[in-house]
Amino acid sequence: MIGKLNHVAIAVPDLVAASAMYRDAMGADVSSPQDVPEHGVTVVFINLPNTKIELLHPLGENSPIAGFLAKNPAGGVHHICFEVSDILAARDQLVAKGLRVLGDGNPKIGAHGKPVLFLHPKDMLGTLTEIEQV
Ligand code: CO
Repeated sequence: MIGKLNHVAIAVPDLVAASAMYRDAMGADVSSPQDVPEHGVTVVFINLPNTKIELLHPLGENSPIAGFLAKNPAGGVHHICFEVSDILAARDQLVAKGLRVLGDGNPKIGAHGKPVLFLHPKDMLGTLTEIEQV
């Protein structure tokens, strides 16, 4: 059921410094910052040959990553995202295996315009895990 690693999202306190580190020290292909107001974040995409890193910075009030950065002021891995071909079938299989889906259990449209769900980090080895239908 699980497919490709779509992205790893890292919350960062300073997008400029984080972008410069990946671009200048790591030699990565780094996008310019993109505001995603409906998700309360500004995102920088780091395009790797096999996946992406997404640097997330809070945008506006009530950003979903503000609390995470308050607890992790230096930043840190916020979530990982796997691709699935059928998100409802994936959800039903995961729930049948005892994993908890956050929210009301129904997919929402994620930052890439595709349906996503998040799994409870306590059920996923301490890692907030997103699944995205591609
Ligand atoms: Co994500």
